[in-house]
Amino acid sequence: MTVTEPSYTASRRALLAATGAGALALCLGGCGIGGGSQTTGGNGGSGTTVAVGDVPVGSGIIVGSFVVTQPTEGTFEAFSSRCTHQGLPVQQVTDAAIVCGHHGSTFSLADGSVITGPATQALTAATVTRDGDTLTIS
Ligand code: FES
Repeated sequence: MTVTEPSYTASRRALLAATGAGALALCLGGCGIGGGSQTTGGNGGSGTTVAVGDVPVGSGIIVGSFVVTQPTEGTFEAFSSRCTHQGLPVQQVTDAAIVCGHHGSTFSLADGSVITGPATQALTAATVTRDGDTLTIS
């Protein structure tokens, strides 16, 4: 009796190639490669990094789960991007405030305190450290 090997080898290779390409595409889209910030880890430290030049003076940006602000030139603050009202992410940073459009809460650029509710608690402060032209937020 002759045993022949199934002919799925080629299709298995095609499947592996396709899933590898898919994983690469997902990583490029979600790993921060090619963007202005990235999440780092290892060696006991972790954090999100952002270029100093990406944070506008008198305003700020939302980077993943953080809000990074520069209320005055050279002064950087960071907060959790989770609104303290219902835990939804804030959506915008203007020259006046960090804005959660879900129900209209606004927060101070300088210390994350509530400017207008319904939120009653400040955004949770994060740690921001500067190393040259790079900020690390954790
Ligand atoms: S979740 Fe932000 S204002 Fe309600």
